Amino acid sequence: MKKIFLVVFVLSAFRGFGQQPSVQIIPQPVEVKSGEGFFVLNESSSVSVPDGSPALLKAAEIFAAQVKTATGYSIPVRSGGVSTRNVGNIIVEINKTPDAVIGDEGYRLKLTNAAATITANKPAGVFYAFQTLIQLLPNEIESKTLAKDISWKAPAVEVLDYPRFGWRGLMFDVSRHFFTKAEVKEFIDDMVKYKYNLLHWHLTDDEGWRIEIKSLPKLTEVGAWSVKRTGTFGNFIPPTDNEPRNYGGFYTQDDIKEVVQYAADRFVNVLPEVDIPGHSLAAIAAYPELSCTPGAEKYKVRSGEKIMNWYSGGFTALIDNTLCPANEKVYTFLDKVFTEVAQLFPFPYIHMGGDECAKNFWEISPQVKQLMQKEKLKDMHEVQSYFVKRVSKIVTSKGKKMIGWDEILEGGDLPKTAAVMSWRGMKGGIEAAKLGHEVVMTPTTFVYLDYMQTDGAIEPPVYSTLRLKTTYAFEPVPEGVDARLIKGGQGNLWTEQVYNTRHLQYMIWPRGFAVAEALWSPKEKRNWENFVPRVESQFARFSVAQKKYAPSIYDPLIKVKKADSTKMLVDFDPEISNLDIYYTFDNSFPDQFYPKYDGTSIPVPIDAATLKVITYRNGKQIGRLMVLNAADLKRRAGIK
Ligand code: ACM
Repeated sequence: MKKIFLVVFVLSAFRGFGQQPSVQIIPQPVEVKSGEGFFVLNESSSVSVPDGSPALLKAAEIFAAQVKTATGYSIPVRSGGVSTRNVGNIIVEINKTPDAVIGDEGYRLKLTNAAATITANKPAGVFYAFQTLIQLLPNEIESKTLAKDISWKAPAVEVLDYPRFGWRGLMFDVSRHFFTKAEVKEFIDDMVKYKYNLLHWHLTDDEGWRIEIKSLPKLTEVGAWSVKRTGTFGNFIPPTDNEPRNYGGFYTQDDIKEVVQYAADRFVNVLPEVDIPGHSLAAIAAYPELSCTPGAEKYKVRSGEKIMNWYSGGFTALIDNTLCPANEKVYTFLDKVFTEVAQLFPFPYIHMGGDECAKNFWEISPQVKQLMQKEKLKDMHEVQSYFVKRVSKIVTSKGKKMIGWDEILEGGDLPKTAAVMSWRGMKGGIEAAKLGHEVVMTPTTFVYLDYMQTDGAIEPPVYSTLRLKTTYAFEPVPEGVDARLIKGGQGNLWTEQVYNTRHLQYMIWPRGFAVAEALWSPKEKRNWENFVPRVESQFARFSVAQKKYAPSIYDPLIKVKKADSTKMLVDFDPEISNLDIYYTFDNSFPDQFYPKYDGTSIPVPIDAATLKVITYRNGKQIGRLMVLNAADLKRRAGIK
């Protein structure tokens, strides 16, 4: 009697706990139905795939490799259908008649005590089903070494899943800081776990030209190398002529082919970006004749010294970092560049940049003046538009479609075939879609992954903040536009302040989870309260994988306001609920025995030296120590 009661109690407690507590998937699938029991991957598991494409075999082999280190199992991949019926086998089926619900990238995954069954229309769907299966296995599956004594159980489920958008990207800037081919591959490995399918590779900028162009060897002999500096990028002491230019690097064409193939095996397209006519100092350092402004000797690849003046509503360049729109040599140069780029990248689009082109040197260039007269161009926007149209012709002549940042709309008359990447908010994308252009949404306001993730008291400094919750609110399709023109979106990782892979991971995750979900999951399935625990379950997996993530959701924003001419009040704005916030003004380290913030503004004591803040959850420290000194407090309150 007692026993029966216990079993019933345990079962109902289990059920009552949200059915299947361990189903924590990012991005949230379209539909998950929980079943009874567990699928268990074991040493006699195998993957059977039907006879078919090498892509399908490859997808299965990648899965087998993904789980091999942690489990120690060498899971065989067998083509030609199911030959053995061991418990724990994975059976892959490709629909003979396509399943209209799931499209090219969707899948159905069924896990039972007996087997895992994956059905899809295309190998891409199978690949994504494997990624979901991995997320359903214990966290230790991410281990970098053999994880002993683990039962590789995944809860019985039926998953129906397919993406909302076909363009699910992350942009990786390898110019500001160089990242090796191996690091780029690791970036791709991380992306695909969250079902991203596009790597936007920002290959050129003022700080380095990273792609070998065989017909223009100086681009990488000269343009790939700068002086190594460290600290806060942007205002470094300008390098002297005798400092070694040995920081940087580039990808040979063989490297590029290898990365493109690596990406393709994982169903990732690679979009190359050659950022012109601004952001071109590395190219000009290699070939100074591409500039409108004479002075070959002064052009050097930027090492992080100041080269632009930014002010509200505009910017000017301190050194001419633009290609000259009035110089035919520039178009010959670009023809060579895009010929080779087009051959290297199978993706139908090439990105021409087009952003933040300073015009102050064009304004004083006699060549540009002549061009304006000849082409009847009224202003600098029209000069830029002339340049963009010439580039569009070149790119199109290579059999590719052109895409560029939203400045390519300026000056009007953008060829209809050009696609627009909206980064200065959503408005460029809205304007472009209304003009009939294809659009990819990458607004600073939601998806700029280089921005700080919480208060500057704890984050490495960047000029703006973008919290996870805001990124999670990213909605790529604005009201009033033809949704069919919105191809999808991207998170953008600029790397001025990103010196290495550890920090790269910190900047991408967890916001990369939020972008992935915005691009994959049905709009109505997105829910912040339900997202946060799933993020935390990914944190646990990252810890096992020894990957870095930003724990910034645990650190509140610190809001300081003026009470009167000398007095200040402090408030804290936590991003998630259930945090206990403790603080001190007496230089000592706060813990859970210190004053706790209760939502009422805290008066800053008149002689306070520092504000120190820490968060706890359920009696355990969870946040990092945040410190603001008295001068910071005053500055924030606007007290002189
Ligand atoms: C950009 O962030 N300059 C596209």
